[in-house]
Amino acid sequence: MTEIGTTEWVMARCDDLTRHSARPDALERVYLSPEHSAANTAVRAWMLDAGLDTETDAAGNIWGRRAAGGTPQRPGTPGEPALVLGSHLDTVPDAGRYDGMLGVVLAIAVAHRLRDTILPFALEVVGFSDEEGTRFGKALLGSCAASGQWDPAWWDQADADGVTLREAFLRFGLAPDRVGDAARNPADLVGYLEAHIEQGPVLEAQDLPLGYVTTIAGARRFVLTVTGEARHAGGTPFARRRDALVAAAHLVTRIEELARATDCLATVGDLRVEPGAVNVIPGRAELTLDLRGRTDAGRDALWERIAAAGREIADTRGVTFEHTETHRAPSTTCAPRLIEAVASGIAEATATTSDPLGLWSPAGHDGMAMDAVTDVGMLFLRCRDGISHHPDEHVDAEDVGVALDAYTAAVLALAKEIG
Ligand code: GLV
Ligand code: MN
Ligand code: MN
Repeated sequence: MTEIGTTEWVMARCDDLTRHSARPDALERVYLSPEHSAANTAVRAWMLDAGLDTETDAAGNIWGRRAAGGTPQRPGTPGEPALVLGSHLDTVPDAGRYDGMLGVVLAIAVAHRLRDTILPFALEVVGFSDEEGTRFGKALLGSCAASGQWDPAWWDQADADGVTLREAFLRFGLAPDRVGDAARNPADLVGYLEAHIEQGPVLEAQDLPLGYVTTIAGARRFVLTVTGEARHAGGTPFARRRDALVAAAHLVTRIEELARATDCLATVGDLRVEPGAVNVIPGRAELTLDLRGRTDAGRDALWERIAAAGREIADTRGVTFEHTETHRAPSTTCAPRLIEAVASGIAEATATTSDPLGLWSPAGHDGMAMDAVTDVGMLFLRCRDGISHHPDEHVDAEDVGVALDAYTAAVLALAKEIG
């Protein structure tokens, strides 16, 4: 085992976490799965090694904490506000090993580096349980619970096997009626500071290892359903068809066209057809839609145009168009004092005289939920070719070393400002 808190330790722990996967050939770890539980167990042990007391909260998030003076302390202890460092431990299907996990492991390494340092706040580390929304469509479930924004309407959202969120809670050993216990009190928090790979090409193009985040794009997700009529592929002339898949295909290309005319992003990432047989005209198509915009107003205006296009295509093709919203998170502005702390951390770690680069994040992060209860700041690390949500996701160990210094320096800069 490499020495805790070093760059090598961080890289090795990100490798270790790939073992906790639902698939032998790929990394997939979703909310409330056995792999989620195993990852929490691994992370708990590393938190203990770093001098933190630990606890799993009522939504399956794993927390660690030390008091301002440095001694391990029960997470969530009131009376001494905490700076929270962390990220998420869940993944998309066939994921890379750094999206989320790197931020959790870096946070533990920073806590270890500062274990003998007296701070003007308690320090907590969190591994959020669901940022991606892979299993239930609704994203940020872990941080929504921690920020007191749990909506009981989510309990009936089901995964691909029909297991509802409520059932999954029970199977994991969590009590649905206790989920409110995970909510953090704003008075007990100093801020939430997350390190994450950029998941885009900007830092690499500028030849920079690190940047700070200015804002996080607002997001909405939907399930779109097109219903036509399943009939015989040979016996049904074109004039008699109500083909749900052809209508859905028109909608997919229209969505891209509409989004390209704005500064928003729209993605249809999944499309399922029923009954799904070679000689049956598709009677039903279900599509997912992921929308992101720098502003919530821009994103919402695009959605109105997409919904209108869906209705228009449905009218023309004799099918019906319905939609269900599964996720919504507002665009989030990072807090000036955390931006300053991160920027000064970057400047110190990179020893450059030029100003650190600020970026907006089209990717979603737990800070979007945590913003409801505390200030949010983010440190971005360069990743190769901007690739993420793919097994080729890669960060250079050298950049991770610089990030570790910058993250630690950012916490100390904030401590100086507050203390
Ligand atoms: C999370 O990675 C998201 O932006 O969907
Ligand atoms: Mn992420
Ligand atoms: Mn992700």
